[in-house]
Amino acid sequence: MEMDLQEVQTFAIAIAEQAGEIVCKKRLEAKLSHEFKYGNELVTNADLAADKFISEEISKRYGSHLILSEELSPDIGNLQEIQESVWIVDPIDGTVNFAHGHNQSAISIAYVEQQQVKIGVVYNPFTKEMFSALKGGGAFLNDSPIRIANEPALDRAIIATGFPYEKSNLEPMIQRLRVVLHHCADIRRLGSAALDICWVAAGRLDGYYESLCIWDFAAARLIAKEAGAECGHFSDVPEGIDPQFHPDDLLIANPVLYPELKRILGSAAEKETPLKSLG
Ligand code: IPD
Ligand code: CA
Ligand code: CA
Repeated sequence: MEMDLQEVQTFAIAIAEQAGEIVCKKRLEAKLSHEFKYGNELVTNADLAADKFISEEISKRYGSHLILSEELSPDIGNLQEIQESVWIVDPIDGTVNFAHGHNQSAISIAYVEQQQVKIGVVYNPFTKEMFSALKGGGAFLNDSPIRIANEPALDRAIIATGFPYEKSNLEPMIQRLRVVLHHCADIRRLGSAALDICWVAAGRLDGYYESLCIWDFAAARLIAKEAGAECGHFSDVPEGIDPQFHPDDLLIANPVLYPELKRILGSAAEKETPLKSLG
């Protein structure tokens, strides 16, 4: 069933704000538990509490919708084959920042209807910045429209990226970092992919690249797109995969810088040193 998207967006914004209050309160209480999933991936009780809150609110309001959320339901199958509406939730993006007292963390909520991301909401509860977009309706920071920066020169551009928790295959990332750093003004590793992408949307960064999970970027990608960014990949998207859901080798930048960044990131991959020859 098609929904009133304005109404759905208002709901998404409200639950992101309430989840933000939970997250801030947990940190103030200073009773954060630090667990590691898959060996090295930090997860706190605040991640779990925010996920539980958001998932319960969605189920109460939209009982027939599916929820794909990082902590409670990370695997619901192939999004391209799901007919129902789906909510994609990262309860805290930037958990390491959050747990170390940095303020670059966000709640990310995307709404997918008929296999299209229709709404994206990324909320930083520490700065009270609410990034949002409704497909075709532009991107906003709180109540003000946002646009990407128009920097045309890569050597004046600030490019953000990030690194996975799993460190067994860092060399290709280091090659890419080296080549991008050579060509741009500077690099940022801010620690929240959703906010990195929203910061491109708001013109605070000129470009961003990384491989992620769907909950890290689903909402922010729509926000960046609506703000005028080119959203794609620096490697080929496998045949039959919808690019909006493909998490590998994401590249988001202004349309002028995008082709050059894509070219240099691609060339770095070609120069990759096989791990076995590194000794
Ligand atoms: C992480 C952040 C980080 C990115 C990692 C993500 P989490 O998400 O977005 O910036 O580099 O790849 O896993 O674990 O804080 O939700
Ligand atoms: Ca995340
Ligand atoms: Ca997370």
